[in-house]
Formats: sequence, C-alpha cells, structure tokens
Amino acid sequence: MKFKLKEGLLLGTATAATQIEGGDKNNNWYRFAEEGKVDDQTSPYRADDHYNLWREDIDLMAEMGLEIYRFGIEWSRIEPERDVFDESALAHYREEIEYMRSKGVRPMLTLHHFTNPLWFEDMGAWTHKDAPDIFLNFAERVVDYLGDIVDDYITINEPNVYNLNSFFYGTWPPEHKSLSEFVKVFSNMTASHVRAYNMIHQKRERMGKSREQTLVSFANHLRVFEPENKKSLWHKICAGFTSYMFQDAITEAMMTGKCRFPVMKRKGVKSGKYYDFIGINYYSRSTVSGIADGIREDAYHNDLGWEIYHDGLIELSNKLSEKYGREYPIFVTENGTCDNTDSFRPRFIYDQLKAISETDNRIERYYHWSFTDNFEWREGEAARFGIVHVNYETQERTVKNSGKLYSSVIKNKGVTDEAYSSFVENSNYRK
Ligand code: BGC
Repeated sequence: MKFKLKEGLLLGTATAATQIEGGDKNNNWYRFAEEGKVDDQTSPYRADDHYNLWREDIDLMAEMGLEIYRFGIEWSRIEPERDVFDESALAHYREEIEYMRSKGVRPMLTLHHFTNPLWFEDMGAWTHKDAPDIFLNFAERVVDYLGDIVDDYITINEPNVYNLNSFFYGTWPPEHKSLSEFVKVFSNMTASHVRAYNMIHQKRERMGKSREQTLVSFANHLRVFEPENKKSLWHKICAGFTSYMFQDAITEAMMTGKCRFPVMKRKGVKSGKYYDFIGINYYSRSTVSGIADGIREDAYHNDLGWEIYHDGLIELSNKLSEKYGREYPIFVTENGTCDNTDSFRPRFIYDQLKAISETDNRIERYYHWSFTDNFEWREGEAARFGIVHVNYETQERTVKNSGKLYSSVIKNKGVTDEAYSSFVENSNYRK
C-alpha cells in the first residue's frame, strides 16, 4: 500500500446543474452562449445531456463505488416564471435523488450554482433589493418538496467567484463592472444564506429530523494568496487586501452574520453560526505583487494555467478550523483540475488525497470536481475537469485513468502498489 486513506474520509464528486444537464433555455448562461460569448462557441444547452442520462450516470457512480455526490438543481426549470413553479421539474429531481440513495450514493444538494432564471436576471439578479425574498421563496419550495430525502445542503456556491466575474470584472453575465453592485450582491447573498440556513433547519425539524441530521453550509471558493516577494511590504499588503476582498469578508459574513465592507448588513442577518460544516472549494494558489494576481513561474500548472499546490488545501483548512471552530467537520466541496488529456490528473488526485490523509485536520469529505467533463462556463466545453470523459457528439462516457484510480482508492481505502503503478507512476505534471 502506498498510503492508507484517512480513517472515515468519504469520497465522491461534485457537479452543477447547468454544467451537465443540457436542454434548458431559460437561464442566463444559455442566453450568454446564444450571444456568442462563450470562448469556444459552445452552449450549456448541450452539455452532458444529464437531464436525460441521469440514471446511467448514477449507475456509473455506484459502479465506481462513489459514496457521496454534490449536485445542483436548475432554478429556471423549477421556477420558470416568477412565482410559477413547475412540479414536473421538482418531481424529476426527486426521482433522481431517490435513485441515487437507493444506489448507496449520499446526496448533497446545491440550491444556487452561478445561474439565474432569465426573469430574475432581467430584474437585476442578486443586486435587486428583493433578491433574498425571491431566493427564499424558491428555496422553501425546494425544501418542502425534497427536504425529506436530502440531509446535506449547500445554499450558495462561491458567492465570490459569481460576484467578481459578473459584477466586477464583467466577464460573466450580466457583464457589469460596478463596485456598488458588487457590494449589493455580497450583501444579498449573505442575507439569503443566513435565512436559508434557518429555514432549512426549521422545515427539516418539522419533518421530524433531528437538528444533527441536517447539514447546511455554503461552498467557499478559497485560494492561497501569497506575496510574490515575501520580504516586500507592498506585496504583503496587496496579498492581505486581495484575500480580504475576495474571500475573507464574505466568508465571515456568511458564516457568522458579521458584516464588514464590502458586505453590508441586510434585514434578517443577526450574529450567529450559519454553518454545520466548513465547506471549501479549493483549486489553486495565487502570488500577489499588485492589484492583479499571478502564478509562480517555476510552478507546475494545469491546462488553464492554475498552479498545482496541494498543501494549500491543508493550510486553508487549518486556518478555517482555527477561526470557525475545530468542532466543525471540513468538507472539501470541490477540488480538481483542468487536464484535457488526463495525463496528470491521476497524480493530482494521489497527491491531494495523500496530503489530506497524512495531516491532522478535520477533513471528513472530499468531493472531486468533477464527475464527468462538463460545460466550463466561459471556457465552454474546451476545459475538461472530469474523471469520466464525455464525447459531446455522442454523449458516450468513458472512465479515465483518474477515475479508475479514484474508484480503486475508495474500494481499497488507500492507494495499492498496483493502482500506483497502473495509474500514477507515469502520470506527471508540467511546468
Ligand atoms: C466552480 C465550478 C467550476 C470549477 C472549475 C468552481 O469555481 O464552482 O462551477 O466548474 O470551479 O473552474
């Protein structure tokens, strides 16, 4: 055995509705793609056709032994017009969730993962003063309908990535560049998370579930920001500032209700604890020497140019445990890499799981991003993150070497010598 998996660590994968489902024309990313704004001119209208192929996909997950699965639901399918709910969409998700449970795969449901119904987008989306009420209304319907069969929830995925790209850099729909909108979005998302956290617990208690049976949090996108030159005071100040604006203030606000600029306190937000686990989406480290961030020249990087730095996950976990309490488990709600040919992903998985298993941290779950290759937002179909290859023309799925390794790790509770020589030995990073 090369190493044994950390005792009790559950392994699975994560996806998002719009990135895999296909077939929906009622969300902002479909329109963005229709306007020709996705780099490779593809559209989430195709994606992985998971809305039709969900049964096969879950069969494959079960065959591979995956224990947990984080997935999203498409708001624009469930509430196609404001206050009009489509029961057939909810029934679709119910059937899928029941099926995954029957196959022994534990579901974690994400309520919001970057995309908005067009009617909400056209009202100003998360900048609108009523956004928290509107989101709550949707979330309540979902929990009423699915709450009895889902124990684990992510309210909002990566408020920082959504907000930065959509309202600050303007590279995602609706392509705005406005600090005041940026502040509104963070503030509304915080209020939405806090209220949804309370609502989910209340509803589930009414369904006869104990408080401990319900796990709610949000998925933070966290990066390590490091001064390019550790001796430079300016670099250190910039790294601290970037981290604060990108992740620290919003994390604190969503987890504890304590709001500091750029997050403003909205109605319904009181100080408290709005998490049952610490959710971390971790991908990379950035070096900072000014306002923009970069990567180390001598670093290994993935096909999107992101540095491969496994210790970052451990560093961030320790930091968050310290700040938010060691009594809370850490769930790695996303971690993965863009490797279009699956040439270094096996090593990536090996190194990351080894780092998790060898250190003393409270990481209890690891959701690899992603199960299948999927629609990678602005990059479209060109950036592959899956442990299962998708041929977008035929929708054929093929388990990659990284998927075979992952499956073997779960079944053997560690990396056997055989798995290492078959999948990891010849898998190497690039500079
Ligand atoms: C997002 C995913 C995305 C992944 C890889 C995360 O920021 O939650 O939707 O596909 O990173 O870029």
